[in-house]
Amino acid sequence: MQVVYRLLKLTSKVDYSRFFSDDVPGFMRSPVREIFRKVDLASIYSFAGGYPDASTFPLQEMEGLTRKVVEKYGAKALQYGGTQGVNELREAISKWYAPWLYAGCGKAVGADGDAPKSDPATVRIPLENIQITTSSQQGIDVCARIFLNPGDVVLTTNPAYLGAIQSFKAYRAEVRNLVAAMADSADGGDTLRKEPSRRAKFIYIVPDFCNPSGETLSLEERLSLVEFARRKDLLIIEDCPYRALRYSGSNIPTIYSLAPERTLHLGSFSKIFAPGFRLGWIIGAPALLEQIFICKQALDLCPPVFDQYLAAEYLGSGTLDENLSRSISLYREKRDYMLALLHRYMPEEVSWTEPDGGLFLWVTLPPHVDTVAMYDSALAAGVAYVAGTFFSLDGGFRNAMRLNFSFLARDRMEEGVKLLSRVISEALIPQKTVEK
Ligand SMILES: Cc1ncc(COP(=O)(O)O)c(C=O)c1O
Repeated sequence: MQVVYRLLKLTSKVDYSRFFSDDVPGFMRSPVREIFRKVDLASIYSFAGGYPDASTFPLQEMEGLTRKVVEKYGAKALQYGGTQGVNELREAISKWYAPWLYAGCGKAVGADGDAPKSDPATVRIPLENIQITTSSQQGIDVCARIFLNPGDVVLTTNPAYLGAIQSFKAYRAEVRNLVAAMADSADGGDTLRKEPSRRAKFIYIVPDFCNPSGETLSLEERLSLVEFARRKDLLIIEDCPYRALRYSGSNIPTIYSLAPERTLHLGSFSKIFAPGFRLGWIIGAPALLEQIFICKQALDLCPPVFDQYLAAEYLGSGTLDENLSRSISLYREKRDYMLALLHRYMPEEVSWTEPDGGLFLWVTLPPHVDTVAMYDSALAAGVAYVAGTFFSLDGGFRNAMRLNFSFLARDRMEEGVKLLSRVISEALIPQKTVEK
């Protein structure tokens, strides 16, 4: 007790603020992570986080897989590994992911909601194009780190994935609206040329079942994005953690397959295996991956080796594919149920997106409803969401919210939606009174 007291007394005497770098004031907190810090997930109906359904985790297989890794790789599995990732996993991804990477563009065929198939003997991703990451969040951050100087511009959708905005801001980049920049360019404008100190370096995009909007870019939208990137000489960071989670519609070619010379394609095991493993990959031109390789030496030396061998064995045995098709059926059912519940319980002034895959949908309320202000009432009622403004580039979307439909158990979803619609209905009342 005395030691703790002495420590408290000493730390209160130091002004730590002068030690922090100039980057620190730009760091943003994630409201999603803050919610989880304060609230016990089990005690509320949470539509907030991007958590997979825990029943999709291959718990049963873990014992056998772990034993296999220990027997097959021995001490190697506990040793440091290469910064680029272990070859066994890169080879497994080269085979397994090629159909997903090329689905929809003639090299692989995918029926509605089915895993795309291709001949693994002919379609492979060359190993020199694959870098393993300690999850796709690191993939985003490492791209930001190698490309961005303070003041550089990143173009993205509005709303955009919060973790990416956090990363770009941490490097003091300016995050601007991609659609506005493309429209400006189509009208003959060129805002960036008028501001020579501002250099646009890359487009960041989640083309499949975007977090947070749930929307998917059409082929035409992908083609015009690629045309814009080529004309403006921009790189494209294509973040695809949800690509394999399609529940309806057909696969659309990845941006990487349309513009491999300027795209870094990010994949992740988080939503199709288990986020706790923290494993992902980047596919791109070797000259770009080389800088990422050097940067990662200072970040983490190498991705987690034991986890990589587990993932390689899991992929190689075909168990991931079996598990994935079960996850897809489960999530398809949950998405359909969530949409049915929204139709049944939400007031008529409320609208939402209907995603073909992924884990989220985006809800829009009448303009006068402030989902940040409404949040405390929602938590008090026992239900959580993420307010839309946290994904906004310009403080907008105060009347929107992101809802996750993967995490909550199916038998708790109805009560959660009922509670949320009650909170929303109460927030709508003042406007109704004014209108009368
Ligand atoms: C679009 C997007 N990118 C990246 C991530 C980070 O995922 P990972 O667990 O692979 O770091 C997420 C997580 O939800 C996401 O939605």
